[in-house]
Amino acid sequence: MNVLGIETSCDETGIAVYHPEFGIRAHVLHSQVDLHQAYGGVVPELASRDHVRRTLPLIHQVLEQAGLSRTDLDGVAYTAGPGLIGALLVGAAIGRSLAYAWEVPAVGVHHMEAHLLAPMLELPAPEFPFLALLVSGGHTQLVQVDGPGQYLLLGESVDDAAGEAIDKIAMILGLGYPGGPALSALAEQGQPGRFRFPRPMTNRPGLDFSFSGLKTHVVNTVREQADDAQTRADIARAFVDAVVETMVIKCRRAMQETGLRQLIAAGGVSANRQLRLELGKMVQQEGGRVFFPRPEFCTDNGAMIAYAGYLRLREGLREPLAFAAHPRWPLG
Ligand code: KG4
Ligand code: ZN
Repeated sequence: MNVLGIETSCDETGIAVYHPEFGIRAHVLHSQVDLHQAYGGVVPELASRDHVRRTLPLIHQVLEQAGLSRTDLDGVAYTAGPGLIGALLVGAAIGRSLAYAWEVPAVGVHHMEAHLLAPMLELPAPEFPFLALLVSGGHTQLVQVDGPGQYLLLGESVDDAAGEAIDKIAMILGLGYPGGPALSALAEQGQPGRFRFPRPMTNRPGLDFSFSGLKTHVVNTVREQADDAQTRADIARAFVDAVVETMVIKCRRAMQETGLRQLIAAGGVSANRQLRLELGKMVQQEGGRVFFPRPEFCTDNGAMIAYAGYLRLREGLREPLAFAAHPRWPLG
């Protein structure tokens, strides 16, 4: 069964083909970074229009790379939410229409569920049940995963997502959009310990997160300090240390509270080298195992959509001809 995956929830057009025996047969990605850079963030209408331009040519390209023709496809999966409504509707409309024309089933996929399942594309894959730390531009969540479709939300951010805070601080430090990779590179040049920022909500019980206060604290520090390159790097370092340690503390607590010994981290922020390193150390101390997607499957991509869609199609799930997109869509 070859499943075409279409991801258009935000600022990346990602297309892939998944097959249960062969894995990801091909995947292609077009990033809209250049398009939005001048505005310092994603402009939703520009994002939608670019998805319109890119999606069909990328589908041709992925089929060519996989050495397949459209008659080899047995299903189409597209991101149905959460995300930008216009961007989602492009992928949903194209995906549903192609499936109709090709007379194959279609399925709408939850973007965060797809992130959560992305580590299953690697070897060794985690086995159910496991804990998942989902950290993207819009979400920061700790989830108990008992099986495909069986998700118990244990904690989440009560305000900003981690990626959102990271992007804001990167902007304040003059690193442009999207800030994650640049901020993480700058932090590596910083001196640890020169600044120390709070680890929000770690002193009280519970598995929720909050990054808004930390963000303000860092913004104020940037404004108060001399504007030299080393100071900026030192602040970046202290901020990344605070975000990473906060996540490590919550993940450790979740492992202890649930007794689960496998932890996965997924979503754009899980590409962060320092987070991967520190989670690895903590999980080893706890006698567990940690799993990550390869970095290109941490950020948005079509592969995770094709895979999550395959699992749904295999269960017999089919979308009616009328399609819908959900800008907000709880994982549970
Ligand atoms: O999952 P994703 O690609 O899109 C959403 O679903 O939101 O996540 C994007 C987020 C952005 O905030 C970006 O700055 C962050 O992931 N990010 C990183 C890194 N790469 C991407 N944050 C820290 N370190 C990175 N290496
Ligand atoms: Zn995402």
